[in-house]
Amino acid sequence: MQITVSNLKKSFGGRTVLDIESLTFESGKITGIIGPNGAGKTTLLNIIAGIDMDFEGEVEYSGEEYSTVKREITMVFQKGGLLKRSVFENISYPLKLRGINKNEIQQTASELMKFLGIEELSGKKAHKISGGETQRVVLARALAIKPKALLLDEPTASIDPEYMETIERCIVDYNRNSKATIIIITHSMDQARRLCDNIVLIERGRVGEADGFF
Ligand SMILES: Nc1ncnc2c1ncn2[C@@H]1O[C@H](COP(=O)(O)OP(=O)(O)O)[C@@H](O)[C@H]1O
Ligand SMILES: [Mg+2]
Repeated sequence: MQITVSNLKKSFGGRTVLDIESLTFESGKITGIIGPNGAGKTTLLNIIAGIDMDFEGEVEYSGEEYSTVKREITMVFQKGGLLKRSVFENISYPLKLRGINKNEIQQTASELMKFLGIEELSGKKAHKISGGETQRVVLARALAIKPKALLLDEPTASIDPEYMETIERCIVDYNRNSKATIIIITHSMDQARRLCDNIVLIERGRVGEADGFF
């Protein structure tokens, strides 16, 4: 899915925080978004994810409108947002909503938990696990629905270093296997270089020149 942003303007209380004439996220690629705190990165991702619909301009998804593709897009927030239920139930929830049968849910959830090293957490309540564990569960939940666009807001910000590689491998594998479009906000230039096909720099709500970063 190619995502195109055109003539985007977003303001909070009369203050413009995003002003982007044109920006394209290529289909099947991993694009990194970098930039200082408060630059508008999260706001941009929220708009692309359809969470924030209060903006001027257009976002197109391979030529389609948001309403047509919304079930194929998923966002992973900086702060978990898990239900106060078991880890397994959290991962299965979006699949249940989509009417997937129990066996398939069980299989998908098991594979993802295994891949992310969270099998032992399956029966644990999601609000009783650590921040790093939460991020892995949130990623598993996002991947469960096999989204065509996966939007990640600093997914490894609170991750234990030992799981950084697991998460990164998971993101790259998913991209290679599913050809999904992935957008990842990151503070780490090293991470951007490791994962991304393209990098977009956002500064004070505008697209900057990121060429020198590679
Ligand atoms: N809900 C909100 N209400 C008012 N201002 C906001 C809100 N969310 C973000 N902002 C402001 O918009 C700007 C961009 O924020 P954000 O997109 O979170 O930046 P980044 O993710 O790049 O750190 C900041 O100045 C921030 O204070
Ligand atoms: Mg942010």
